[in-house]
Order: sequence, then C-alpha cells, then structure tokens
Amino acid sequence: MIEVQGLKKSIHNGTNLVEILRGIDLTIPQGQFAAIMGPSGSGKSTLLGLLAGLDAPTEGEVILDGTPISHLNEDELAEIRGRKLGFVFQSYQLIPMLTALENVLLPFELNGSSHRTGEGRARATELLDSVGLADRLHHYPVQLSGGEQQRVALARAFMLEPPIVLADEPTGNLDSHNGEHVLELLLRRHRESRTTLVMVTHDPQVSERAERRIILHDGLVIKDTATATPMAVTEANCDS
Ligand SMILES: Nc1ncnc2c1ncn2[C@@H]1O[C@H](COP(=O)(O)OP(=O)(O)O)[C@@H](O)[C@H]1O
Ligand SMILES: [Mg+2]
Repeated sequence: MIEVQGLKKSIHNGTNLVEILRGIDLTIPQGQFAAIMGPSGSGKSTLLGLLAGLDAPTEGEVILDGTPISHLNEDELAEIRGRKLGFVFQSYQLIPMLTALENVLLPFELNGSSHRTGEGRARATELLDSVGLADRLHHYPVQLSGGEQQRVALARAFMLEPPIVLADEPTGNLDSHNGEHVLELLLRRHRESRTTLVMVTHDPQVSERAERRIILHDGLVIKDTATATPMAVTEANCDS
C-alpha cells in the first residue's frame, strides 16, 4: 500500500519559490490500478518521483507498506526501491552501453545478487521472451525501435518482482500499436502478479481501463474517482 500525507514540493528557482505540489493526500491499496491525469505542468511526474523516493518532499510523507521514506538515507532508499518498486519512464532510460539483456540484469546486480549471475540471466532472458524480445537479447538500445526499448524497460522494471509499478507516460513516445502492446504488458503484469500500478497518462482510453482516476491540477488533486466527489477545498490547499 502507498500512503501519501500532506505532500508538498517547492523549488527555489532563482528568486521565486515555485510550488509544484501543494498538499497531496492519497491512499493507494495494494493491487490497484490508478491513473494519474492532469494538464502538462500539473505535477504528475513530480508526484511519481516522490512516490519512488527519487526526490525528497518539502513537506509531508510517502509511506510504502508502513515505512515512511522521507528520512531514509540513500542506501536505505535504494534497498526499499529494489524490494518494492519498478519504475517505467516515458523516455525508456536504458543504459546505451549495455545490451537489452544487460539492462534487464542491472537491477539484479545492483541488488547485490551478482554472484547469482546464472539465475539472473535466466530470469532476464525469460522476461525478455515474455515481452516478445527473445531475439533481441544482445541488441543495444540504439539498435532497437522505441516500442522495443520500452519493452526492455518493462522487463527491467519487473526483474525484481516489485509489488508496485510506477509508470510515467509509458506510452507517450509510442505510436498507437506499440503503445497498446506496452499497455497490455503492464496490465497483464498487474492482473497476474497483482501488482499495484500507478500510471501517469494523457490517454483517456488508458485511463478508462484504470480502477481509479486521480486528476491533478496546479499541484493539487482536483478529482479522485475513489472518493467519487470532487475534493473539498480545505484551508491546507487554498492558501497560495
Ligand atoms: N527541477 C525543477 N525546477 C523548477 N521547476 C520545476 C522542476 N521540476 C518541475 N518543475 C515545474 O513544476 C511543474 C510540474 O512539473 P511536472 O511534475 O513535471 O509536471 P507534469 O508531469 O504534470 O507535466 C512544472 O511547471 C515544471 O516546470
Ligand atoms: Mg510529466
């Protein structure tokens, strides 16, 4: 389960204080598929980065399965990320000098399992096969299409069998055919392994398939289908 309490993020931008997130409260139960939507600049990527502990909040807390993450050090964060989270980016973020297989193996090796290389390679190979890339194991990212690169990124995100998958516009750079393929793979993972799936998307056809739609605007949740009614405006979120 993901709990978000009073989450705020501000950034000093020269002279101005930019308030990116202005007080977010959410509870996402284990196994839910939640879509995060909202206009460009509303804070979706910032929120996802905070959920993953890739960035620190200015105020508030993210609690992953009971563990508040804001005061963890880098090693503790890396450990909890490795155990709980898979992250998929719009721009794939593969390591260019590594083959598809090596990219998928990376979380396994960073997780201190490099002594079990045989086991890791077998699992990475199986995952690449499951995303339709059995014949691309030794290709480098530059030799792969966008759709193929994103499927390598999915295999990498699934490598440590995370209970939570966070995806930031995973189909945003893909044509509709490849986008559909990537979406199907994420949804299959969600169904078969009961992973929590939190996905930022602009695509209404994607969000319609989610169990829940969370709409951000200007750093606040303005609608959340889990609560049915628009969020009440409280003192905490109207004081800017
Ligand atoms: N490091 C940063 N420095 C200054 N402004 C930022 C930074 N990161 C994000 N922002 C601003 O915060 C707002 C929200 O960004 P983001 O979370 O990327 O929005 P979204 O993903 O919804 O498009 C945007 O206006 C963006 O320009
Ligand atoms: Mg974004």
